[in-house]
Amino acid sequence: MNQYDVIIIGAGAAGLMCAIEAGKRGRRVVVLDHARKAGSKIRMSGGGRCNFTNYDVSPANYLSHNPHFVKSALSRFTQWDFIALVERYHIPYHEREHGQLFCDESAKEILDMLLAEGRDAGVSLQLKTTIENIEHTLGPQHNPDVSADHTSAQQASKDQGGFLLHTSRGDYRCHSLVIATGGLSIPSMGSSPFGYRIAEQFGIKVWPPSAGLVPFTLQPQDRERLAPLSGIAVDAMVEAGGKAFRENVLFTHRGLSGPAILQVSNYWQAGQAVTIDWLPGEEVEAIIENTRQEHPRQQLKTLLGRLLPTRLVMALLPEALLETPLAQLSKAQFNEVRQQLHHWSITPGGTEGYRTAEVTRGGIDCDAVSSKTLESKTIPGLYFIGEVLDVTGWLGGYNFQWAWASGWCAGQYV
Ligand code: FDA
Repeated sequence: MNQYDVIIIGAGAAGLMCAIEAGKRGRRVVVLDHARKAGSKIRMSGGGRCNFTNYDVSPANYLSHNPHFVKSALSRFTQWDFIALVERYHIPYHEREHGQLFCDESAKEILDMLLAEGRDAGVSLQLKTTIENIEHTLGPQHNPDVSADHTSAQQASKDQGGFLLHTSRGDYRCHSLVIATGGLSIPSMGSSPFGYRIAEQFGIKVWPPSAGLVPFTLQPQDRERLAPLSGIAVDAMVEAGGKAFRENVLFTHRGLSGPAILQVSNYWQAGQAVTIDWLPGEEVEAIIENTRQEHPRQQLKTLLGRLLPTRLVMALLPEALLETPLAQLSKAQFNEVRQQLHHWSITPGGTEGYRTAEVTRGGIDCDAVSSKTLESKTIPGLYFIGEVLDVTGWLGGYNFQWAWASGWCAGQYV
């Protein structure tokens, strides 16, 4: 029998951070993972450079059915704490737009740093381990009637309650069990619904998961119409589900991608329209008015071709309108130009799904977990951290910051 104080399932960003902190406190910690390597998503993140945090992190950068939940962890382990760790390891990094911090050289440096910290803290790491099932072994003092109260839950966990795990490497016992198995994105990298199944086993609610930070696919007729635009990238303002982001939109051969699209995908629900302003911060009517004073015979497409890629202009407006001289544009035509350039609306057919998504929306109900300790309010000794929870960050280093912060906080209590 392998006996530990703490077993963490999932050697990703959150699990490794939690293990380091628990190990530093002198707890006997093992991290179990079914994958062949630890931290696969860290290694491939940020195009191989890992956007490990952001200079500007606030609860407003996260989605959750409980928007207050992230506040405690984010304020106790901040981006500055992680940056200090990165600097202690002399990992060179740089800032990109919107405060995003990336490694200069390789994401592997972040992973190596976490593994080194874990080794120093005496953490064991056991990969290629399949967890077959988990039993909750209640201590004599455990009283389910009072377990909703968190202090009682902590007390009960200390009263010899614990967990028995049957795995492909034999049985393991622990007092504290941390579920850090992440979300469902990129199934080829070891993602699994394991965390959700465990929550369900213990009667903990799970908000239905769906792909986030993900490109949109188009409906067949739009895909055909917009296929010639594949490869075009435009700085635009994109709005969906009541939230707008200004960044690049990229046309792909299947749909729409680019940072602005990934950001709004977090807020989008199936069937909703997405609205795009192709000239954010400008007023196309004013531009036309000014130009037509001097060049009344200039065709609309000549003017718009100076503002946007010609292929995009051709797809947005009918040819007859584009060939109209500026001086002859009617009020109705002005309106059409304004509508198509500032309020272009499209209803995606769906998303590219978990195959390409960076994160998973939904997950374990935050109301069932203490925002301070990350311990279940009903099952003493059971903790949930990282992306497996119903917390989804924006693009820009926010998802890792959540993983570090929630892992760090749980590490103080397990
Ligand atoms: P994470 O997914 O990191 O780890 C979960 C671990 O659990 C994995 O090691 C997995 O093998 C293991 N596991 C799963 N099921 C198991 C089971 N049944 N048994 C045992 N082990 C199991 N974020 C960001 O802030 N900046 C960025 O640059 C990027 N870039 C990025 C690129 C790509 C391609 C993706 C897919 C994602 C990102 N992200 C990101 C998101 C970020 O990677 C993600 O939010 C964090 O890794 C979540 O950390 P967790 O530790 O919660 O899960």
